[in-house]
Amino acid sequence: MNVGVATPACILDSITAVDNNDHDKQELVKGLLASAPSISPKYFYDALGSVLFEAICVLPEYYLTRTEANIFHLYQNEIAQCIPSGSTLIDLGAGNCAKAAQLFPVICPTHYVPIDISVNYLTHAVQHLQQRFPNIEMTALGRDFFVPWTLPHQVRSKQRLFFYPGSSIGNFELDVAMTFLKQLRALCDEDGGLLIGIDLIKQRPILNAAYDDSLGITAAFNLNVLRHINQLLGADFDVSQWRHVAYFNEAASRMEMYLEARAAVDVCWETSRRHFASGERIHTENSYKYSLPEFITLLKEIGFGATRCWTDENAWYAVIYAKAT
Ligand code: TRP
Repeated sequence: MNVGVATPACILDSITAVDNNDHDKQELVKGLLASAPSISPKYFYDALGSVLFEAICVLPEYYLTRTEANIFHLYQNEIAQCIPSGSTLIDLGAGNCAKAAQLFPVICPTHYVPIDISVNYLTHAVQHLQQRFPNIEMTALGRDFFVPWTLPHQVRSKQRLFFYPGSSIGNFELDVAMTFLKQLRALCDEDGGLLIGIDLIKQRPILNAAYDDSLGITAAFNLNVLRHINQLLGADFDVSQWRHVAYFNEAASRMEMYLEARAAVDVCWETSRRHFASGERIHTENSYKYSLPEFITLLKEIGFGATRCWTDENAWYAVIYAKAT
């Protein structure tokens, strides 16, 4: 699908519009029936889930969004100095494009390529942005990073800067994260780079509070996935019978998120059913926390060898510019 918008030009190209419903449903059911049941985190973001996540981002306990924004604000000039002007800024999981747009005046890209799985949301955001920045060429892409993806020919191979903020890399398992970063390295020349935000290992109570806030917004966000599954599968999850559980698994260096049955419960959906024992958990997401030196070593190993890092005063969060080498 290619939709051109008259002036200013902004190209939209989507390969996620393909109807994947049956496959997705099968995956979901497989996850629910597994001996260690799970629901993919991609189902968090229905209309209500997206609003709840925006609310999480302004919670006092959820330091990630705020801390990253402060780092970008404080060090934007230093960051911009590392990046050759006239770059192609490739925004991975762009959402409303707001984080990248804040950097436009300092980074001065000639081409902006926002990529997101949610094409409708992205389309709206990028059309608005194109009006504000008519001199930047924009190409919006609908892609799902969980399937192998490529960049279309409009995106020149020179000076590609991949932008991956929000500590989203932490939601991948370690091997998947490495494969993903290697793919980015393969997609850029030696004049390319990566600007990435990662959440760092810190004291357990701070981490646990960030994922289980006192207002219960994070609990609502996690539980909302059950409402979404009810719609998708015609299931009969009773949200009030489940509770949100989040804790830091230090050995694995990750936050683990679950939904736990408050009592024994039977859940039915169109094609089958499952009994959950009291206290049984459905896994919904992991969020890995990195040590900065270890992450830099990983980047070096995959060919992003020259790094600059910026952190906040507590060293809770880091923004890294990694140049291809
Ligand atoms: N990507 C976010 C993170 O890892 C998602 C998130 C925040 C989340 N709070 C949550 C996922 C609670 C599940 C439950 O920080």
